[in-house]
Amino acid sequence: MAEKLWGGRFTRPPAEDFEKYAESFSFDRRLAAAEVRGSLAHARQLAAAGVLSAAELRALEAGLGRLAAAIAAGTEPAPGAAAEDVHTFVFQRLLESAGEAARKLQTGRSRNEQVALDLRLYILDQAPAWEQAFTGLLNAWADFAERHAEIIIPGFTHLQRAQPISLGHHALAYAEMLLRDRERWRQGLHRLAVSPLGSGALAGMPFAGDREAAARELRLAAISQNSLDAVGDRDFVAEIHFVAALTGLHLSRWAEDWILYSSSEFGWLRLDDAYTSGSSLMPQKKNPDALELLRGKSARLTGNLMQSLMLLKGLPLAYNRDLQEDKAPLFDSLDAALAGLRIAAGVTATAGVDAARCAAAAGDPVLLATDLADLLVAAGVPFHTAHAQVGQVMSQAAAQDSDFRQWPEAELQRLLPQLAPDKIRALSPAASVARRDGPGGAAPNQVRWQAARVRKLAAAVT
Ligand code: ARG
Repeated sequence: MAEKLWGGRFTRPPAEDFEKYAESFSFDRRLAAAEVRGSLAHARQLAAAGVLSAAELRALEAGLGRLAAAIAAGTEPAPGAAAEDVHTFVFQRLLESAGEAARKLQTGRSRNEQVALDLRLYILDQAPAWEQAFTGLLNAWADFAERHAEIIIPGFTHLQRAQPISLGHHALAYAEMLLRDRERWRQGLHRLAVSPLGSGALAGMPFAGDREAAARELRLAAISQNSLDAVGDRDFVAEIHFVAALTGLHLSRWAEDWILYSSSEFGWLRLDDAYTSGSSLMPQKKNPDALELLRGKSARLTGNLMQSLMLLKGLPLAYNRDLQEDKAPLFDSLDAALAGLRIAAGVTATAGVDAARCAAAAGDPVLLATDLADLLVAAGVPFHTAHAQVGQVMSQAAAQDSDFRQWPEAELQRLLPQLAPDKIRALSPAASVARRDGPGGAAPNQVRWQAARVRKLAAAVT
């Protein structure tokens, strides 16, 4: 039986079922690379404090270096490797490669700080993949927006036809959300780049190590300032959950819009075969499963966020084993949100547009009601009065199921005496979006400008 990190005061081993219940190696093995890096930094602190001899430090450095290489190569943790947790695993491997020095490495440190450090390092290690995924989706939406800056569709409020916008304008709304998500992600990483190393089990480290130097070695910007807080703090986990959950929620809202837009009822978008699935029964079906899963994963991400908050609520200081439960949902959320970003980019890059169906929908004259009222305003009518006048026009058009622009001149003159009929007849979806040519507006110019801006920001590193 491999050695544990504890056991001296026990006369009996843990019950078999409890041991299984309590192990975390099956999921915290992901932290192995971080555990090795943290151990190296701790070893150097101990050597500087005179606890480890130069030879012992060399033995530990060599052992940890080999282990790091094996982890990077994917050969460790080996499939059959068994341990209580990742900390025990690294200890056991070090015992084999560095001998007794491995026992000295436990001086002054506790798994309570180790796991707090490992989690922080692990999340920081995800940064390149997340940056790439954010960039990929931002670029996919910017490209889509540029290509479809002039494909006009009805914009909705209350899911009722409201005013004309373009497919490009719609996509860039989500790009804005994603830019904020990326900013939150980066800020979250910035806040968690703090080293708890040197906190011990809860009260700090008696062997005067250089905590600042260890933090620098780990490329962490700061050291924690209170050892109790440092071992019990999982705020950063909750914060990353929030970023993942909100990102997932944005993807879910986008997915819902695109599910609608690609349905036969709308017919504006055609999803590629690569991101759709068939039905085992109905041969005609091509279902938007990728989008539906983006919507579904959002529930999971939100659930994980709730779980992280519930885990912390009411926990007494400092470390409690409850905290072991923080890992599975965190890994799950990191994986699911990252995959979601990539899938959304794939769906976007491969989607086709049915310009004729978009034009047919955008051609609904109700979308021009506001523009008609604006024409009256330009003719000196107070907006409130114009609103009432146009309301009558719309109600009559609905009753007759006709396009007010086609009404006889006399009828237009009767209902809208302030306007020349040719001005009314010139109203169109294209003219409507073109008028909204201020910053943030739906005009093709603005959409193209925003797409270029998003593409530029997508490439920007912090
Ligand atoms: N596996 C534990 C965790 O994930 C390790 C932390 C310390 N364990 C302990 N019994 N003090 O939180």
